[in-house]
Amino acid sequence: MMQYTDRHFRYLARIMSQRARLYTEMIVCEALLRGRPERFLAHSDFEQPVALQLGGCDPKKLSTAAKLGEQAGFCEINLNLGCPSSRVKSGRFGVALMGEPQLVADCLTEMSSAVNIPITIKTRIGIAQNDSYEELFKFVEAIDGSGTKAIIVHARKAWLDGYSPRENREIPPLRHDLVHQLKHDFPHLTVVLNGGLSSKSEINHHLQHVDGVMLGRAAYKTPFLLATVDNAFFESVTNNLVDRFDIFHQYIEYARVQINAGTYPRHIAKPLHYLFRGQPGARQWRRHLSEYCTRSNAGIDSLQSALKWVERTTP
Ligand SMILES: Cc1cc2nc3c(=O)[nH]c(=O)nc-3n(C[C@H](O)[C@H](O)[C@H](O)COP(=O)(O)O)c2cc1C
Repeated sequence: MMQYTDRHFRYLARIMSQRARLYTEMIVCEALLRGRPERFLAHSDFEQPVALQLGGCDPKKLSTAAKLGEQAGFCEINLNLGCPSSRVKSGRFGVALMGEPQLVADCLTEMSSAVNIPITIKTRIGIAQNDSYEELFKFVEAIDGSGTKAIIVHARKAWLDGYSPRENREIPPLRHDLVHQLKHDFPHLTVVLNGGLSSKSEINHHLQHVDGVMLGRAAYKTPFLLATVDNAFFESVTNNLVDRFDIFHQYIEYARVQINAGTYPRHIAKPLHYLFRGQPGARQWRRHLSEYCTRSNAGIDSLQSALKWVERTTP
């Protein structure tokens, strides 16, 4: 998620779950290739398994970008076919590409022949009036066999005109049933459902129909949920780290190294904002981080002193 799932958030997420696959924000292919790709690709091995998401529509450029991603150590390259922002639309990528299945197939073919790691896509269920299951079926049929074996579906259509990106994440109704149907009709594809999930019971329900689920806003706004997913959904994993304070203390060691290396404290603090959500003192904790970690003299102490607002509780 752009502006959110940066490397610092992913580090925090990995402290909480050893198994959940993490995704970068969408990196625009042109920006990546313009120079200094390490600026966009920097991450820690600790984040693995972590996938790189690209936005673009030029098969050659995307395959070069995918190669850079593979060399940088990402375990999967995901092509964004779901972003509805006007900037993305004018660049002829994101969800606009759902209207150009042949171009998508060409991109996937080039990308998959350039790298040895999986190429995946993230789509919506449709665009504007083209939102019937038949249209979705035809789109997936057209790209099936062109280099991707996995498809993540945000179970909402997008409107290219009239709705902001935010509205496009909230107003078009969720149609989880279409994603279930897609798995039924393309059993050889790995189908991952995304959109509106925030509880283990919802996840359990959908896992009866699809191969996996992706959490978006819930991962960011209730990050502690991630501390429970290994035990709940992955076999033979025992994640003993179930205490927010332990998570914080592990993250603070990373924060110390990052801040010493010149990272702004406000960037390091941002993923922590909702760690104590629902706990006594959570609001003051957030306010403290917003206020003290953005000051010019902020440092590791500005993070550590936020602890005074939250009480030790059992999760
Ligand atoms: C602030 C924000 C940024 C997002 N950025 C991306 C992105 O870079 N790539 C992407 O595939 N989806 C992006 N999304 C969409 C989410 O991945 C997800 O598909 C959508 O929010 C629905 O899932 P959710 O209800 O679990 O949040 C973004 C969503 C939000 C709220």
